[in-house]
Amino acid sequence: CGIVGYIGDKEVTSVLIEGLSRLEYRGYDSAGIAVYDNNDLHVRKFKGRLNVLADHLKEETLTGVVGIGHTRWATHGEPSDRNAHPHTNVAGNIAVIHNGIIENYMKIKEWLVEEKGIEFKSDTDTEVIAHLIDCYYEGDLLEAVYKAIRRMEGAYAIGVICKEEPDKIVAVRKDSPLIVGLGEGENFIASDIPALLKYTRKMHLIENDEVVLLTKKEVKIFNDLGQQMDREVFNVTWDAEAAEKEGYEHFMIKEIHEQPKGVSETLLRRLDKEEKVTLDGIKLTKEDLDNINKVYIVACGTAYHAGLVGRYAIEKFAKIPVEVDVASEFRYRDPFVDDKTLFIAISQSGETLDTLAALREAKRKGARVLSVVNVVGSSVARESDDVFYTWAGPEIAVASTKAYTTQLVAMYLVALHMASVKGTITEEQYKEKVNELKTMPDKIQKILDNQTKIQHLADGQFNNEKVFFMGRGLDVHVAHEGSLKLKEISYINSFAIAAGELKHGTIALIEDGTLVVALATQDHLYDKMLSNIQEVRARGAFVVGVAKEGNKEIEKTADVVLYIPDTLDQLTPILSVIPLQLLSYYIAVARGCDVDKPKNLAKSVTVE
Ligand code: G6P
Repeated sequence: CGIVGYIGDKEVTSVLIEGLSRLEYRGYDSAGIAVYDNNDLHVRKFKGRLNVLADHLKEETLTGVVGIGHTRWATHGEPSDRNAHPHTNVAGNIAVIHNGIIENYMKIKEWLVEEKGIEFKSDTDTEVIAHLIDCYYEGDLLEAVYKAIRRMEGAYAIGVICKEEPDKIVAVRKDSPLIVGLGEGENFIASDIPALLKYTRKMHLIENDEVVLLTKKEVKIFNDLGQQMDREVFNVTWDAEAAEKEGYEHFMIKEIHEQPKGVSETLLRRLDKEEKVTLDGIKLTKEDLDNINKVYIVACGTAYHAGLVGRYAIEKFAKIPVEVDVASEFRYRDPFVDDKTLFIAISQSGETLDTLAALREAKRKGARVLSVVNVVGSSVARESDDVFYTWAGPEIAVASTKAYTTQLVAMYLVALHMASVKGTITEEQYKEKVNELKTMPDKIQKILDNQTKIQHLADGQFNNEKVFFMGRGLDVHVAHEGSLKLKEISYINSFAIAAGELKHGTIALIEDGTLVVALATQDHLYDKMLSNIQEVRARGAFVVGVAKEGNKEIEKTADVVLYIPDTLDQLTPILSVIPLQLLSYYIAVARGCDVDKPKNLAKSVTVE
């Protein structure tokens, strides 16, 4: 979910709608606002995209200069008008927006129903917050919020306004993101920075367990004991324009085309004059690395797929054993992590709750934590010992593209740096890889320049209801990412396998016309892949091969071949994922899907 709040002199509804429009990537199944106008609180909230709310507000103008807004991704309670936020107490004089989950809400709800006789209006966990604050309210909103949060367990960022004190917004952060925007005679809260960039570049980053009191004139930050905290102003230097579509039809295709730039930013900033990898001052000395006997890479979704390639690179170059895990599993398997473990969290947003929780668990067990993150100042970044930023720029489309390729580059750089410090690769091998990495932006561009072929292919294949991706070695990881891309934006049932596993089950599903995308970029596995392609062709599959330029043999077996420029086998994922991203994109467009905001998904999943 995304939250935003405003207090100042501007007409509040337009500020809230603008802010929410930048937060829709966090969820978009319903949206709502609460504003103080004409001596009363007014709540308007609707199921559906933000424009349902915005259209409504065009008809009925609410004025006012203080308010809070919310865009929802349902956890407790189906998407509906009544489950949309803000939620209010019985009298309707306290309104609350919330991102996160109140884990003990059932217990609180029982107490509110049985002891206080309160009737609930929604199925959400959030509603208990409004009633709790009401129970404790004795004329001081800040104090009532403090008392309420002492009873709340779970993860939350909340914003609260109250009819009796219309010159205030109270906000709290516990494990869900929250920032404050600072203006002249006006102040803001939001789940993240882009929501406020139209109005201010000056921010306060709010820490866990902090409570914020905003008025037009000032912002006071308190810790959980109620002591006021000093906070520096965080100046945002990146450009709001970058978050716009710039003429592309969708953010996803814009972001696909931004990959040469993102990859070169991530890379070139980290090569010094001698073309040695520098990790932004992160000190991984020989002594540090000798002390490490294992690397654990943990992430979710696309970032997890980048982690799989990261494992390959670290094991291959730096010769350290690596485990990779999805963050939601990591914590519950009691993993072997101790002070000899280097824990690497990969996350575009830096706010994925499972990843954050895994990181905390690793820290608790004594691991050193390095994170590879795109969003500067995000929670994962702040809680890590070291951060290596991917300079992809804001990624808005739910389906991750440029974050993935920059994560790959980041992992290669980390692996090469470790290898060079440990002395596990020769100077010559090191140079060869760094030089090859430097050619990646141009090579990606070359694939993008030839996208028409992929577009035509998509036009002929978009009606498939099942698609398989297969590969061997490094290609398996890219197959997984390609399959995820396709399913998330086109809703086609897609599946990725190690090609050698085909005969152990999946081949039973191949029928006449089934689309199989076969990656064959690894020289030492090329012939084996050609045999796998033949096996599925013999059962009627339509095969799209992905291979390195010059490896033409594949044309004899595959129906269509998408070529990537020649490169080292170890680095092919940076290139081979590009045609798969384009294929998914054009298939989804041909199917008329909402590419940037696929159903049931959110860009940043800040619940477990
Ligand atoms: C969501 C997004 C994915 C992303 C994953 C992890 O599922 O839709 O695109 O890969 O979260 O997000 P993170 O921000 O931690 O990389």
